Amino acid sequence: MPNRADDCILVIFGASGDLTRRKLLPAIYNLAEAGHLPERFAIVGVARPRIHFDAYRGQMRERVANAEGEPLDLDKWRRIEERLQYVSGEFHDERLYEGLAATLQELGSRHSIPPNYLFYLAVPPDLFATVADRLAASGLAKEHDGWRRVIVEKPFGYDLESARSLNARLIAGFRESQIYRIDHYLGKETVQNILAFRFANGIFEPIWNRRYVDHVQMTVAENEGIGSRGAYYDKAGALRDIVQNHMFQLLTLVAMEPPISFGSEAVRDEKVKVLHAVPPLADDAVAHNVVRGQYEGYRREPNVDPESRTETFVGMRLQVDNWRWAGVPFYLRTGKKLARRDTHVAVHFKRAPFMLFRDTPVECLNPNVLELRIQPDEGISLSFDAKVPGPLERLETVTMDFSYAKHFRQEASTGYETLLFDAMTGDQTLFHRMDMVEAGWEVIAPILRRWAHDTKGRPEGRPLPREAVPEYGAGTMGPPEADLLVERDGRQWRG
Ligand code: BG6
Repeated sequence: MPNRADDCILVIFGASGDLTRRKLLPAIYNLAEAGHLPERFAIVGVARPRIHFDAYRGQMRERVANAEGEPLDLDKWRRIEERLQYVSGEFHDERLYEGLAATLQELGSRHSIPPNYLFYLAVPPDLFATVADRLAASGLAKEHDGWRRVIVEKPFGYDLESARSLNARLIAGFRESQIYRIDHYLGKETVQNILAFRFANGIFEPIWNRRYVDHVQMTVAENEGIGSRGAYYDKAGALRDIVQNHMFQLLTLVAMEPPISFGSEAVRDEKVKVLHAVPPLADDAVAHNVVRGQYEGYRREPNVDPESRTETFVGMRLQVDNWRWAGVPFYLRTGKKLARRDTHVAVHFKRAPFMLFRDTPVECLNPNVLELRIQPDEGISLSFDAKVPGPLERLETVTMDFSYAKHFRQEASTGYETLLFDAMTGDQTLFHRMDMVEAGWEVIAPILRRWAHDTKGRPEGRPLPREAVPEYGAGTMGPPEADLLVERDGRQWRG
């Protein structure tokens, strides 16, 4: 694996936006600090505001320092700043791309950078196709003298059809090998570690299947509300915002077969098979297997429809119908304004079949649970029963715990460092391939269809009754219906 990324110019569309300030430039700075940036490198920010590049540099210096939460190493920052250019214009305007081409030429010759361009579309989703079209029309997507790659932010489409039509627009100008559909969850160390944990250790794989696993729980809980993102969120909802991408990525990493190599196609081939093995829910099974909820006060958030029925919580029960997992339920839940911020995967193993200890019924034995803690408090723990010291035969559940922070003592990263580095080195492993995007939408399509039908089936102008999307109190773990989803099967959510 290379230590430094390829020499290139990173072009960020949406350079004055939140993502650039809070994640992308801090990630570039962290890459510089770690010595992973290419020798010959530059950044061009592209956005609407008409400001001078000096003013842009000043703004970004301040924002990156804020995001880092500590004073910048000015030597490192200066190296980035000297190579940070700014171009303003309207994203649909051809002249913007002519100006950009000239800036790229000029930067390339000033700093001897080969014409390798990485375009990052950090713009609102309705502009992804426009920018991609214009890049293609201006000739900037052509790889005749260097490589050209495009990173597309989420959400990739609004449903299966819109995802396909967005892809058709991208594919008109770029080949699949040039398209990097990003999911920042895959940049998280703990998410990448799922593969290392499963396939670099000999003892887990033999029990990672329906013979030993009772069920799997996945939780992506956030304690924050939607903040200022009402306009986007009210149209998206938790199913599109979190389940279709981040949670399905966790699911594929936990459930996939060992790939034949860690090559990007081999890994992604196995991941997509998991989604193909999830049987789409029949129309009348949606209500039984999927629960939605909305936090109290959501409808008073800025830019949210006061009658909105958008879900801020989803709980669901899925099956992965293949040889390894048949009959093992996967329970997923995600929500905003929940009791705590907590993303984890808990693999619940089957109970020991019989009890040797006097007076302890089998039902009282706690099954072993392996918990992969994605964030915060990143780590892995395994719970098991142990004998309480003393003459009585008593058992207590204890845990073996590994903590990233305690062991590795690494600075926290934004998650974007790895993804930017991979895109600069041409490694697509951690990016969504189009068939994965489609497979994800296919799994949730029946749910979206059923919910749309519930809404449309209402008399003119009458919103869904409130009970259809039950409210839950901020600081809880979602509506009680979500508990029933697992309790019905004789199980309980962990935590
Ligand atoms: C984003 C979602 O993709 O991920 C947000 O749009 C969510 O709604 C965020 O809050 C969570 O990411 P993280 O890295 O903060 O857990």
